[in-house]
Amino acid sequence: MGTLTSEMKRLVQRQRLGFVATVCPDGTPNLSPKGTTDVWDDDHLVFADIRSPGTIANLRHNPSIEINVVDPILRKGYRFKGIARVLAEGALFDEILAFFRKRGVASPIQHIVLIRVERALPLTSPAYDSGATEEEVRGRWLEYWRSLEGDDSIGSTIQSPVASAQMLIRKPSEEVFRALVDPAITSRFWFTKGSAPLEAGTQVRWDWEMYGASVTVEVKELEENKRILFEWNGPANPSFVEWDLAPRGRDQTFVKVRNWGFAGGTDKIVADAIGSAGGFSFVLAALKAFLEHGIELNLIADHDPDALVEGWAGQGGHHR
Ligand SMILES: Cc1cc2nc3c(=O)[nH]c(=O)nc-3n(C[C@H](O)[C@H](O)[C@H](O)COP(=O)(O)O)c2cc1C
Repeated sequence: MGTLTSEMKRLVQRQRLGFVATVCPDGTPNLSPKGTTDVWDDDHLVFADIRSPGTIANLRHNPSIEINVVDPILRKGYRFKGIARVLAEGALFDEILAFFRKRGVASPIQHIVLIRVERALPLTSPAYDSGATEEEVRGRWLEYWRSLEGDDSIGSTIQSPVASAQMLIRKPSEEVFRALVDPAITSRFWFTKGSAPLEAGTQVRWDWEMYGASVTVEVKELEENKRILFEWNGPANPSFVEWDLAPRGRDQTFVKVRNWGFAGGTDKIVADAIGSAGGFSFVLAALKAFLEHGIELNLIADHDPDALVEGWAGQGGHHR
């Protein structure tokens, strides 16, 4: 077995950013980021010199190198110490160059640096010392990055799909707003039980008793008859939901809902976003039927009859 475990390789391949330390001739350290940091094989890491003259000069003088690769959300990573070879040409250079081109690195590459890893150690944030789980740390840092929203640097580090759905409701925005904040009304078309009306700064619980499911909802912002922003499912699986109500004339409201900030691996994030878009489409359809026609379509319970808790179907699917 090589020095690099599959966990290490996975993290390096996912992060695509290593901080590379070399030693200057005067003994002082030199540290610079390399977005091309990748795994070459079980014992070697690699990065491309696009414009890293300091690193290259240092390695020619002293091939000792240390690279840190850390997942900024999980606050975990690895430190790799080893010996670097600077390649400027030859068969191996060509092979690695082709690998970077295939990976999508389009910049001119001056040299390729191949590192034989001699020691690989895990790095974990002291946040874990108190017994925090990965889920908790991830939740905390996703929340932090989201709190910086508006900062352009975020979009490039977090792949964040937004689930959305929209519907014209032929009722005034006051009525639509009330239907979304008052659980006595919302429970006619969405969840079955809400602990309290939505109010900015409060936390409520919604239950879907037919599925034995519930969420905690933290109301972040509420603009009367216009907008509702909340976070739900935190801290284990948090995401944000925003309702936007735009009046059309006096009697109609164009309702848009967005759900974003899903946590987890890419597959889970994508599945959550797709599920959410479908779910909110049902909610909007049910809201429309209820407000415009007074009909309870029972869409939430009927869309997944096999998942209903025992006895629920026996109640005839009626709202309680
Ligand atoms: C996020 C990020 C990724 C970078 N990736 C690379 C890279 O893969 N290769 C490279 O040569 N320079 C890369 N750079 C640029 C170098 O870090 C930068 O030119 C630095 O000044 C080089 O310092 P040095 O000459 O001491 O190595 C990157 C910079 C940033 C901010």
